Amino acid sequence: MGKDLSRINLSFPFTLSRNIGIDLGTSATLIYVKGKGIILEEPSVVACQRNSNRILEVGLKAKAMIGRTPKGIYTIRPLQYGVIADFEATAGMLRYFIKKIFTRYKFIRPTITICVPTGVTEVEKRAVSEVAYECGARSVFLIEEPVAAAIGAGLPIFEPMGNFVLDIGGGTSEVAVISLGGIVVNGITKVAGDHLNQQIAKYIKETHGLYIGELTAEDLKIELCKNNNREHNKEDYFEVRGRDRISGLPVIIKLSKEQLKDALYGSVEIIASTVKTALERTPPELVSDIINKGLIMTGGGSLLADLDKILQEQIQIPVFISREPLYCAVKGTGEALENFSKYSSVLVKTARSR
Ligand SMILES: Nc1ncnc2c1ncn2[C@@H]1O[C@H](COP(=O)(O)OP(=O)(O)O)[C@@H](O)[C@H]1O
Ligand SMILES: [Mg+2]
Repeated sequence: MGKDLSRINLSFPFTLSRNIGIDLGTSATLIYVKGKGIILEEPSVVACQRNSNRILEVGLKAKAMIGRTPKGIYTIRPLQYGVIADFEATAGMLRYFIKKIFTRYKFIRPTITICVPTGVTEVEKRAVSEVAYECGARSVFLIEEPVAAAIGAGLPIFEPMGNFVLDIGGGTSEVAVISLGGIVVNGITKVAGDHLNQQIAKYIKETHGLYIGELTAEDLKIELCKNNNREHNKEDYFEVRGRDRISGLPVIIKLSKEQLKDALYGSVEIIASTVKTALERTPPELVSDIINKGLIMTGGGSLLADLDKILQEQIQIPVFISREPLYCAVKGTGEALENFSKYSSVLVKTARSR
């Protein structure tokens, strides 16, 4: 993961505030501690023993095991498409991360604010907050992901004007128009980072008869972004390693940048049409603000090569990638913690159900 957290001194955890914010993402979980900043960033992955479902590894170590497990072990991404797919694994993962940051402060009962996608149902919201209560939270607040991402991207969400934000995570792409602190129009699609990985794997299977794993597909997508941003790049081809569909043997093929972009074009079209549909439903005054200020993209998926250019062409308004897109939601959640009274209207308190 990209952020260098090694500079943060965790040797005195008893000085940590009891107020923490969690971006519980499909791809990654990030934790912000009031007064400290982001102190944890780990993949949202759990590795379990098959017979007992006992959790063996969580986070980075579990991610490295994806596609490499023996029969007795399986890996799971407990959040899928922005919702909790496996409650026990989500609870176990959160408990592990929270314990990790409060190692020496055993009896702390923090106030926890969790960033959740707007698509989640009331039942799922309750499930998320229940996990936090189970982890020992004193009280739990929820904040909607596009709102947190917009705050993290520095947008003036309380102004009477249209703030247009598109957050592309692992499981969902969410678009929202925010004005006066609330979401006026929103749209969501499951075409996001994970779907893009699947499209790459599908394309390589269909065109080259090669099976590749989820992590290899994701690496190719990220390499494409790096390659695209380099001014003078010699490598117009990527080497892809996988298993031949017919012979079953390991094979290395070459894939061009253009081929990779082709593989992703259909998905980009779906994201663009989700944005267009939201624009069509936006009241005219807000549309006029949006034409001036443009669309701000957050989330890791916004880094996809050429996505900003294609979207701009299709919706005919300026498109910008926020600074540090992978950290917008957690930074926004953190900003809300630091200024609790200013942001109280966007924080929803949840009660414990049992
Ligand atoms: N440079 C990049 N180009 C394209 N996609 C990227 C890049 N960096 C990260 N991603 C993708 O961003 C997604 C994770 O974004 P994130 O905002 O952390 O998601 P979530 O909120 O679901 O945890 C993953 O699907 C990852 O592959
Ligand atoms: Mg996210």
